[in-house]
Order: sequence, then C-alpha cells, then structure tokens
Amino acid sequence: MSQGKNENTQTNESPWTVLRLLQWTTDFFRSKESDSPRLDAEILLAHAMSCTRVELYTSYAKEPSDEERVAFREMVRRRGNGMPVAQIVGYREFYSLSFRVSEATLIPRPETEHLIVEALDCAANLPDNTECWIADIGTGSGVIAVTLAKQLPKSRIVATDISETAIEIAAWNAEQHEVDQQIRFVKSDLFDQVEEPARFSMICSNPPYISESEYLDLSPTVREFEPKSALVAGEQGTEIISRIVQLCESRLLTGGHCIVELSPMIAEACMELADKSKLFEKIHFIKDLAGHRRILSMCRR
Ligand SMILES: C[S@@+](CC[C@H](N)C(=O)[O-])C[C@H]1O[C@@H](n2cnc3c(N)ncnc32)[C@H](O)[C@@H]1O
Repeated sequence: MSQGKNENTQTNESPWTVLRLLQWTTDFFRSKESDSPRLDAEILLAHAMSCTRVELYTSYAKEPSDEERVAFREMVRRRGNGMPVAQIVGYREFYSLSFRVSEATLIPRPETEHLIVEALDCAANLPDNTECWIADIGTGSGVIAVTLAKQLPKSRIVATDISETAIEIAAWNAEQHEVDQQIRFVKSDLFDQVEEPARFSMICSNPPYISESEYLDLSPTVREFEPKSALVAGEQGTEIISRIVQLCESRLLTGGHCIVELSPMIAEACMELADKSKLFEKIHFIKDLAGHRRILSMCRR
C-alpha cells in the first residue's frame, strides 16, 4: 500500500477497500514487529476517515477517498518508523475517555486502569468521602486526576508534574472533560510546591519506576518516542516511590490510602520500603491482566 507501484498494480485488479487496506497494513505492521498490528491499522484508518473503529467494521467494502488514503499512507509510514499510534493521532483512550497526548507525556497504559479501580474502591470506604482531597503525583496527560474527578464528582484533586508541558496538556484534558474546576494542577517536584491541603485522603501516583539498566532493554518505540523523565526513576527504579512513601508520613491522613503503580521487578523492594516505614497497614498488591504485581495499595495507620 505504501509503495505506489504495487498499490497501482493491485488497484487495477481489485479496489483498495477498507478491508483490503486493513489486511495489507496489518501484515505490514506485523513485519515491523508491532505488538498490536490489526488494532494499530484500525485506529489509523478510522482516524484518516474521521470515523470510529466500529464504523470501519460496517464499511469493509467501502473505498476511502484519495484524500483519506493519502492521509492514511502518511500515518502508516510514521508507524512503520516506530512512532506510537497514540502520538500519530494525538490521543489515547483511557477508562473510556479520550486523552490528548504528545511527545512530552507518557502514553497512558491500560495497566494504570487497575490503579483507578483500586482508588475508587478505597474512596468508597473512606470515613467521609463527601469532600475528600486526592493527590495525583506525576500526572502526565492527567489520566488519573481527570478520571478520578469524573468518577468522584465531590472530590478535590491536586495534580503535580515536574514537566511544564505535561501540566499544560493535563489541564487541557481536564477542561475537555469539564473537570477543570475540580483539579488544581501544579508544576512541582512531588509535593514541593503544594502547601494546601496539608494532608490528603488519598495519594495516587504512576511515577517513573524503571531503572537505568531496564531502560536500555525497552523497545525502541518507547525509548525513542516517550520522555525518559517519565519512565526512569534512577539506578534502582525505586527512587521516586521511596520518596512518595516518605511523604505519606506528613501528607496522608490517618486512614487514608497511598496507591502507586510499579513494575513487577521492584515489587518486592517497594513492599519492603512500605513495611520498614511502619506507616501503613493493609499493604497489598493488585495484579495486572498478565498476572504481574502492578499496583501497591497501602492504608495509613
Ligand atoms: C510514568 S509517567 C505517568 C503519567 C500519567 N500519570 C499516566 O499514568 O499516564 C510519570 C510522570 O511523572 C512525572 N515526574 C517525574 N519525576 C517527577 C517528580 N519528581 N515530581 C513530579 N512529577 C514527576 C513525569 O514528568 C511524568 O509525567
């Protein structure tokens, strides 16, 4: 499809319908070792045709216009060069909401939805959740803050990030989802610039948790297109989580919850950090769909 000669030859034989474009592109992405070749092809074609993926399924016999095919071909070329689909189309779905992303933000991952589920469970059990204060440390595109604001309309949220550009994108997403009045975005190293409230009912974070050595093993698509500062915590991978655990002493209410995402590689080390701090009870992991320990949930004594 991306090589004019082949495409023209084949066009004479049979038309480039939605179905054929999807099949060709899926094979092409598979040859480029995409983890989700069919899904990538569908998202890009739906974007080029300004329709939903579901609408593609009912349009298999349709022939996209020349303009749509040109737009699609360009996106396929960029994906073939390793660019993540979310960055090509400029958005990613998370917890059934659409979030703008850019090269300055981590692309939201489905694993982080487990953190949302745990946070909602914990919020339901808070002694008084009528106006609970929630923190989202390292908000990135704002997925955690915005999703929790949507789900918990009475909560108030402070979302921090060390990156100014991430804060701008997160604030834009909050406005799009009409929860900007509920969330205060602060450019800050963890809580350094956050004075109010003194203590939170819940501290959530999907912080950088990759070690320098693990970073070298990440796929080029991640290393070349996503910000290293969103991924790498330091030599061990536990550096930022360790600081968050310490913060809970002064910034988390008794009975409040600290919920952090982590990698299975550092799960044991993080459990030790939580234990040694003596700040928490009911410390437990939540596994992701692959069965890996992905979320650490702790309740402040
Ligand atoms: C793994 S990304 C998570 C982004 C988003 N919360 C998500 O789940 O998709 C980590 C985020 O933490 C931010 N970050 C890194 N170090 C930080 C620090 N010391 N203080 C605040 N934010 C930090 C990065 O800029 C990045 O946006």
